[in-house]
Amino acid sequence: RSALFFKWEVSYVFWSPDCMEGLVIGINGRFPGPTIRAKAGDTIVVELKNTLPTEGVVIHWHGIRQIGTPWADGTASISQCAINPDETFVYRFQVDKAGTYFYHGHYGMQRAAGLYGSLIVDVAEGEEEPFHYEGELNLLLSDWYHQNVYAQMAGLSSNPFRWIGEPQTLLINGRGQYNCSTAEQTIRGSGTCEITGSQCEPVVLQVQPNKTYRIRIASTTSLSSLNLAIGNHKMTVVEADGNYVKPFVVNDMDIYSGDSYSVLITTNQNPSLNYWISVGVRGRLPKTQRALALLNYLPNSATNLPKTAPPATPAWNDYTHSKSFTYKIVAKEGTLKPPVNSKRQIALLNTQNKINGCIKWSINNISLVLPPTPYLGSMRYGLKGAFDMTKPPEKFARDYDVMRPPLNPNTTQGSSVYKLELNSTVDVILQNANALADNVSEIHPWHLHGHDFWVLGYGEGRFGKRDMAKFNLKNPPLRNTVVVFPYGWTAIRFVANNPGVWAFHCHIEPHLHMGMGVVFAEGVEFVKQIPKEALACGMTGQMLMNNHL
Ligand code: C2O
Ligand code: CU
Repeated sequence: RSALFFKWEVSYVFWSPDCMEGLVIGINGRFPGPTIRAKAGDTIVVELKNTLPTEGVVIHWHGIRQIGTPWADGTASISQCAINPDETFVYRFQVDKAGTYFYHGHYGMQRAAGLYGSLIVDVAEGEEEPFHYEGELNLLLSDWYHQNVYAQMAGLSSNPFRWIGEPQTLLINGRGQYNCSTAEQTIRGSGTCEITGSQCEPVVLQVQPNKTYRIRIASTTSLSSLNLAIGNHKMTVVEADGNYVKPFVVNDMDIYSGDSYSVLITTNQNPSLNYWISVGVRGRLPKTQRALALLNYLPNSATNLPKTAPPATPAWNDYTHSKSFTYKIVAKEGTLKPPVNSKRQIALLNTQNKINGCIKWSINNISLVLPPTPYLGSMRYGLKGAFDMTKPPEKFARDYDVMRPPLNPNTTQGSSVYKLELNSTVDVILQNANALADNVSEIHPWHLHGHDFWVLGYGEGRFGKRDMAKFNLKNPPLRNTVVVFPYGWTAIRFVANNPGVWAFHCHIEPHLHMGMGVVFAEGVEFVKQIPKEALACGMTGQMLMNNHL
């Protein structure tokens, strides 16, 4: 077990992720940020200097549970004060479990501005993965907008509402091609963009014939749900969100924002050819060209284009296809099983509503607005008035019709917290519904900080008591992100055993910005030694000045 030290500087850099120059938030002058590679049990130390001239920053380590270190979770207004320009904050935490993870900004919409990178945790020294492979490849998927995130945020809070629209480009490892004539030509370098040797040069994955490779895939998209396929190759899914799953074979797979997977492929196809890896949009009428990478069988040249067309993405609204993929994900034998009963059931209705004519997302009719003082500090020190102390609703109206737009579209905003009894078992039912417009219900991938949860089941329409009988308690997968399908529900269970304050939210960045999240807290009185730098704002900042703590 070792400690790995990193010195990072966050700044704006000119970059051309899709062959068009724009501003991205980079780390140490690069985009995406550096890949962290560690072993289970290692301690990661990131000394993060904010070199953005006029805005704060934080970094969240997505999928890392932060057991005993809730102040290192990197969520502005929840776990810490945003780091001011020219200041430095030290993230120190243990990566306790092998798996595929990533990190990203968690303040405003800085993730969409490009602040992200991969975090890969190998098994501890002397341990082995429960599957065999001879080589490893990594794909970090994202989407990219030409409009800057300030304009995006202003539009989302405007009346009349200005939706951000579909992304201009899908990126693979931070690379895509916008308007470069056909993507196939692009790979060859004969399109309208300067490709070769550029920041938008397509990703080439080099493989040897007749070997097994592990491909790690994670999505940090702002909006898009994705589907990935590799020409002529089947994939065996073996890991999801840092947990092993019972292996299953697919031709293509869906990846929602916040998801991570490992798949195994065997390079047993005609070795004189190369093959396309293609990534397309799901769940929204796609206006964004698919992204392509090349699976390059060595010693073929990467300029040899595949003989077969890139695999086609299933129709964007083929939810049957998406569900059949999602339902195949169950835990590998030997995975920790959930407690048989839960102590509490919280039902969260996801609706689109309005506040003063502005469009919001709300949960049980409350649209989340984060308070100026981070919860972790204000709750730990019992400061009054730092946030809305009323109890947020546990349930929604029994007769709410999830198939129709909300009868009363007006909602309220709030910052209240679901306080969970330490070590208790909690069930959450995520209930989807119709949005403001008729016949619209969207996909929402929900992500929980500080814990993994078991996915107990999914269903259509309104969740009812009878559905509990169908919960999968035998081999539910452990995950940190789960999809809620249009007009459907998703049930999860977790044990509130990690003292701290934790976000639970839709991982679609504009949805979170429009209020689509809740806050859980447990055992905050047991949290020790919050670094002062995490508290130096709002009411905790005031407290530090008064008490010389
Ligand atoms: Cu990856 Cu709260 O997010
Ligand atoms: Cu959402």
